[in-house]
Amino acid sequence: MLKGLIFDLDGVLTNSARFHLTAWNNLAKELGINLTSEQLDSLRGISRMDSLNLILKYGGQENKYSEKEKEQFAAEKNKKFLEQVETMTPKDILPGISELLADAKKQNLKMDIASASKNAPRILKKLGIMDEFDGIVDPNTLHHGKPDPEIYEKAQELLGFKTDEVISFEDAAAGVQSIKAAGQFAVGIGDKNVLKGADYVVPTTADLKLSKIEQVFNQK
Ligand code: BG6
Ligand code: MG
Repeated sequence: MLKGLIFDLDGVLTNSARFHLTAWNNLAKELGINLTSEQLDSLRGISRMDSLNLILKYGGQENKYSEKEKEQFAAEKNKKFLEQVETMTPKDILPGISELLADAKKQNLKMDIASASKNAPRILKKLGIMDEFDGIVDPNTLHHGKPDPEIYEKAQELLGFKTDEVISFEDAAAGVQSIKAAGQFAVGIGDKNVLKGADYVVPTTADLKLSKIEQVFNQK
């Protein structure tokens, strides 16, 4: 029986994913690296330092900088990202999400957040939906980022439910892999070819309907 919902944040509850990608793309350009759109897309859901390391790898610069320099680059990118976060308001909640959260509340489902972002609490506050959730996994406690299952396992543990009692939502290929590795039911939001491991895929958040998702979940 369904008891809980687990949400990724960037690209699922709000479109902050675009702020991440723009900030990374700008930093990459400053480092003389031109990312293809596929390379940029592959950064979705990936932790801050893993993203930077991936960019440097794409540019053939994996051994060029010291850890200290890399931390400076990551801090620079985060500063730019946070400038964008400051502009966010409840209007930045993606279409269909408020209805989905309200439907879940009506059914007394518990909900929490499985985001790799250390800025998740700040973003949720700006969106005005912090109190909707029963918890947020602290990414500082994780040993492995997505696609490793750790973050979704922790989110499930935080809710106190079994694997087959939760549904998890993701917009990133790495995130869907993480959910499936944790053994949970995955709802993918985006391109079904990219999110092919998910149990149910919708093109946009506006297409998320809890009753329909539950129907597919109950058939599994
Ligand atoms: C994820 C984003 O939610 O958080 C990634 O999809 C981002 O793009 C990651 O790199 C880490 O975020 P932050 O805010 O801690 O740099
Ligand atoms: Mg995401």
